[in-house]
Amino acid sequence: MADSHTTPDSKIDHAASLKYWNSVPATTGSMLGQFPSPRFAVYYQASNLGGKFHQGVDCGAGVGRVTEGFLSHVCEVVDAVEPVAKFTQVMKDSQLKRDGVIGTIYTRGLEDWTPEKKYDLIWVQWCVGHLTDSQLIDYTVRCRKALTENGLMVVKENLSTHFSGQDMYDSEDSSVTRTDAKFRQVFEAAGMEVVKSELQKGFPQSFNLLPVQFYALRPKSTN
Ligand SMILES: C[S@@+](CC[C@H](N)C(=O)[O-])C[C@H]1O[C@@H](n2cnc3c(N)ncnc32)[C@H](O)[C@@H]1O
Repeated sequence: MADSHTTPDSKIDHAASLKYWNSVPATTGSMLGQFPSPRFAVYYQASNLGGKFHQGVDCGAGVGRVTEGFLSHVCEVVDAVEPVAKFTQVMKDSQLKRDGVIGTIYTRGLEDWTPEKKYDLIWVQWCVGHLTDSQLIDYTVRCRKALTENGLMVVKENLSTHFSGQDMYDSEDSSVTRTDAKFRQVFEAAGMEVVKSELQKGFPQSFNLLPVQFYALRPKSTN
């Protein structure tokens, strides 16, 4: 990968990101987005022999929108990692937490999170743009080591539409939007294999949003 001083991710400033996210309301509406297509969702369950995953984790969880709308339906217990305390407070106060569906909540950034247990499903959506390339590789390596034998990691992120195929820096929330090629380089460097990838469908065209891609990852086989 190119020298970090010349790349868009070198502009990432965690303090600026946290300032931005602390300034938005702690509501699901602030997080924006959709859940996986039914087809992709079936894939996760099929990869777990048709049953529910036991232990999942929602990384960069915000107020728990994805946990509430999707992960709690495919996992028995969902941990959460999110650096903004007013967002994790919403999860701490939720019915899902009282019911034991939300498990451990870690109020910290992914760059500072080392999994303490094994996960069947690690879900990370719309937040890895806050990590530099090397932080993202290191985080993905930690996740790889934390997967159960049949465990799956899913990354769902916007893709860069830069005219010359570069990652794009956004100063509003101090994040980068990566190209598909960059994501694949990162996963390769972290020892992960992309077992399935799919563009999110179903956004109304009037939204004029960036393409959104899912990557389902498993550790590369060592044979
Ligand atoms: C667009 S929201 C998405 C939240 C959630 N994944 C969803 O889809 O509803 C981006 C989230 O990334 C979080 N975030 C910011 N910096 C982060 C970091 N270093 N590590 C993990 N999450 C971070 C923000 O606080 C915010 O909750």
